[in-house]
Amino acid sequence: MKILRKISETRKITSALILRKKIIGFVPTMGYLHEGHLSLIKAAKKKSDVVIVSIFVNPLQFAPNEDFTKYPRNFKKDEKLCRAEGVDYIFYPDIKEMYPDDFSTYITVENVSAGLEGKIRPEHFRGVATIVLKLFNIVQCSFAVFGQKDAQQACVIKKMTEDLNINTKIIISPTVRENDGLAMSSRNVYLTPGQRADAAYLYKALEYARRKIMLENYNRDIAFLKGQMSKLIKSRKTATKIDYISFNNSRTLEEVQTLKNLKSASILISLAVRFGKVRLIDNIVIKR
Ligand code: PAJ
Repeated sequence: MKILRKISETRKITSALILRKKIIGFVPTMGYLHEGHLSLIKAAKKKSDVVIVSIFVNPLQFAPNEDFTKYPRNFKKDEKLCRAEGVDYIFYPDIKEMYPDDFSTYITVENVSAGLEGKIRPEHFRGVATIVLKLFNIVQCSFAVFGQKDAQQACVIKKMTEDLNINTKIIISPTVRENDGLAMSSRNVYLTPGQRADAAYLYKALEYARRKIMLENYNRDIAFLKGQMSKLIKSRKTATKIDYISFNNSRTLEEVQTLKNLKSASILISLAVRFGKVRLIDNIVIKR
């Protein structure tokens, strides 16, 4: 496994691989890798000749009041995990390499970026789309794997590749969870033991909605379901604020108004909840 810190060196390597008709699979990350990330690497490995993982905590997708400087980092551990998974290259640039002082071009994906996370983190997806397009251009991958855990991010990236005719296939991989249902996240390390226990209720709330709709064929008020989910989460005292609980079309992210006549569409049920300063997101997709 080789660690690449420079764009020029990386492009030289990937250009040579492409000449040799190698399929390059790519997994972009911000590091502090856990089983969720490793599942994306495993998925990439199955479909490619060469796997590249990027590790870069992207300042552009953090607002000034967010946790960029405190975002957990442990490159040595990440390196070990990547090596054990059989990763071929880690692209690990520093900030100046990716954003020289005169950097001034940004990608905005309208509509799908606007709701949900976009309402609360208005600049976030502009930062994500910009770095992901830069990374695609550097690693020149045939396909890239993203996690369903960040459902809106996956929609934004898919839409960007469609709209800008980017020659990279986007593969979405399922959310990996802890035994009690909590979605794995680098940010889970910030949780106190009490918050950690209560955080399992996010998935319980999502599963409650799934059960009602899929098993009990509930097709009345979405507001009622949201109310019940909210009650369940608020029953945990360390859950300090629910930013949103939302039902959306899983592709367009348009808000779903009714559960009737949903035969063809799948619904993304997503939520964001704060446990003190720690903000967690999760989602499930259901299809009738
Ligand atoms: P990061 O949060 O490190 O996540 C990297 C990838 O891992 C994303 O595609 C994310 O959806 C996926 N992932 C995280 N937790 C997961 C879980 N529990 N199960 C399955 N997949 C999971 O997302 C980012 O970094 C950044 O925004 C990035 C795309 C790298 C751009 O900077």
